[in-house]
Amino acid sequence: MNQTSPKRPATLQWVGSIDGHLEVLDQRLLPGRTEYLHIQETESLWQAIKSLAVRGAPAIGVAAAYGMVLAGRSVPATSQSNVLMEALARAATYLKSARPTAVNLAWAVDRMIRIAQSHRGIGVRPLRQRLLLEAAEIQFEDAAMCLAIGRHGASFIKNGMGVLTHCNAGALAASDHGTALAILYEAQRRGIHFRVFIDETRPLLQGARLTAWELLSSDIDATLICDNMAGLVMKQKKVDIVIVGADRIAANGDTANKIGTYSVAQLAKAHNIPFLIAAPTSTFDLSLPSGDHIPIEERSSDEITQTGPPLFPPMQIAPLGIKTYNPAFDVTPADLIAAIVTDKGVISPVHETTIRALLN
Ligand code: MRU
Repeated sequence: MNQTSPKRPATLQWVGSIDGHLEVLDQRLLPGRTEYLHIQETESLWQAIKSLAVRGAPAIGVAAAYGMVLAGRSVPATSQSNVLMEALARAATYLKSARPTAVNLAWAVDRMIRIAQSHRGIGVRPLRQRLLLEAAEIQFEDAAMCLAIGRHGASFIKNGMGVLTHCNAGALAASDHGTALAILYEAQRRGIHFRVFIDETRPLLQGARLTAWELLSSDIDATLICDNMAGLVMKQKKVDIVIVGADRIAANGDTANKIGTYSVAQLAKAHNIPFLIAAPTSTFDLSLPSGDHIPIEERSSDEITQTGPPLFPPMQIAPLGIKTYNPAFDVTPADLIAAIVTDKGVISPVHETTIRALLN
């Protein structure tokens, strides 16, 4: 049910009929190994999302939609509809608890619940099929939204430009194509020549492991830097534009994205470099007035006191017993964002009125 570019393995795909399974590319193993998890139950999917085997806001939304299919499938076909609805409600709460910041997860789960409610009269067996269809639809729409982001954003990239990106907002983070990287793929398709600087993105190295792998396999001129080198490359005038993804955008345009994004935005401002967000409309959360209300996931201290797993045995890089603070995301205020490129068009300047005008 998935489509993907020739050189990239699919991020996730449903295999077979309603009795089939979800295949998820295990991103924890990249770039060393390309292996798929075969997921049959909601619990294993929760684990895959929590442990970042599948990650990136749009991709975890699509994965969670299939998680609702798995939850529905666990209910015997001979049951009453209300048994299925109760199982779905439990699965929705459970899946949402895996990762709190990216709104796409809750967005997809809620859409699955709405579809179940509006079709509950058709009986359990057809309803389970309908859920699978809806999840596939969400996946298809996600890939289409990413392509549209690429089309709307490609004109920001001019010949000879240097682009800086942080984390991985590429095909691996979505059904395909990605958000920030969709813009680069489309610019490349249009014959534009540019160069990309990739922040390694401590602590889990999504830039070094994933974006570097994606851009290399797409023949895009890419250079990996450590996070603390971004200021220098900007000062050396090697960067003309910064483009990153988003996990949740509040009504006023404040944007949560991978930890370190806020620092990059401040550096861009100091060097007079435009800072762009690329995100599908499913990443906006207009119920939150500002970024102060976005829940920020805090992750385990091992991620910053150790290196290595899962490819290598863990190596302790900080003394045992040291206190740690490991927020996975930060919020960039709207006034640092020159434009938000969405599947429906470009929002610029970024504030509540321009956001609501485009989304409505
Ligand atoms: O913790 P991750 O790897 O899921 O964080 C991913 C990001 O922050 C991405 O930039 C964001 O989800 C946008 S992906 C199109």
